[in-house]
Amino acid sequence: MPRMTFILQDGSCREVDAPAGLSVLEIAQRNGVELEGACGGSCACSTCHVIVGEAWFAKLEPASEEEEDMLDLAFGLALTSRLGCQIRMREALDGLVVTLPAATRNMMVDQ
Ligand code: FES
Repeated sequence: MPRMTFILQDGSCREVDAPAGLSVLEIAQRNGVELEGACGGSCACSTCHVIVGEAWFAKLEPASEEEEDMLDLAFGLALTSRLGCQIRMREALDGLVVTLPAATRNMMVDQ
């Protein structure tokens, strides 16, 4: 089974099983990694924002326009930012590393 690593806000690493077909958000939630995912993975918030390791970024499917729009609202945006709910795990992503941003801004409750 593929594995992936989350780098948490405190800088520690969490390596977990990452079953193909699940999103990075779902994998985080299964493993108690604090990735909020306020909209439940429907690309309508930015609380599942993760920063993808550079080596991995190019291997991901390109972001949709909706995802780009949501990312523009994310706190702490980086060049390799993606929404965790839009990254679908597959064998080729075995070893994926993503970093949780220092904070998220939940557009669903801020307004
Ligand atoms: Fe809301 Fe990913 S969970 S955009």
